Amino acid sequence: MPDSIEIVEVGPRDGLQNEPRPIPTEAKIALIDALSGCGFRRIEAASFVAPGAVPQMADGAEVLAGIARAPGVRYAALAPNLKGYARAKAAGADEIAVFASASEGFARANLNASVAESMARLAEVAQAAKADGLALRGYLSCVIACPYDGPTAPAQVARGVAALVEMGCFEVSLGDTIGAGTPETVRAMLFGAQGAAPPETLAGHFHDTGGRALANVEAAMDLGLRVFDAAVGGLGGCPFAPGAPGNVATGALVARMEKLGVATGIDMGRLARAAALALDMRGDAEED
Ligand code: HMG
Ligand code: MG
Repeated sequence: MPDSIEIVEVGPRDGLQNEPRPIPTEAKIALIDALSGCGFRRIEAASFVAPGAVPQMADGAEVLAGIARAPGVRYAALAPNLKGYARAKAAGADEIAVFASASEGFARANLNASVAESMARLAEVAQAAKADGLALRGYLSCVIACPYDGPTAPAQVARGVAALVEMGCFEVSLGDTIGAGTPETVRAMLFGAQGAAPPETLAGHFHDTGGRALANVEAAMDLGLRVFDAAVGGLGGCPFAPGAPGNVATGALVARMEKLGVATGIDMGRLARAAALALDMRGDAEED
């Protein structure tokens, strides 16, 4: 068991992108500001994708302009192409995340391109980020299964990880986009991924089906991963992956780590206040 792990808070992006009801920019800013005091070193704050694809994220520039930037926190943003990169850079994102898929079906649905075409596009973003000295993170989606193609072979994951590392990503976050993983399939996937990159350069990104995400985190931790993505209040899903559940809830992850004696550096009291804001923003909260 490690002494500590890092949690990357992705709720303001991976969580809110899935909310069908328009969320006011000020509410997004308030959520990020509440998260800024919790002890995260990285918060994914926005994405600069085609506004027609994800209207909820269209106000990324206003969100980044409005937040109170806390010292020691890196505010990250997703960019799928050079246009998105230019917008993210102009908005002052501290870290850029490019995103690819291990499977062809999700690449087509999410990026309107094949895996190879999207990797070529992302390599352009990577080159630009490198020239500007901006940190570049990579995401690989559907590492366990794809809503269109079914199970993903570990070799596909290894190829995707290798491509993202090759283009300059300092870390690759492995996305179980539809929460299909179990500890067994996560281990098999990681054996594949580790052929392409060492565990200290990999992160776990588990969407949570039936509460299995915590067990999947532990399986990944056993294999050397030390960075995990989570979303405050368990927000999340993916508009392009039908049925994708929310991300593992940050509070549940912190609580589990505390029980295991693994430090996260997250203040649970402050996180609970941020989670209350997040839950208020959820469309289904109103219906409950
Ligand atoms: P496309 O339609 O093939 O792109 O979409 P295009 O280049 O033909 O452009 C279409 C229009 O969008 C044009 O405008 C472009 O200018 C505009 P028009 O000429 O029609 O007026 N456009 C943009 N505008 C602003 N910013 C941009 C941008 N790009 C194009 N960056 C594209 C291809 C990749 C752009 C589109 O499919 C897209 O934006 N996809 C993003 C989808 C997305 O955000 N998905 C969710 C994030 S990924 C995820 O959640 C998984 C993750 O959490 C990990 C996991 O769980 O697995 C990361
Ligand atoms: Mg996700």
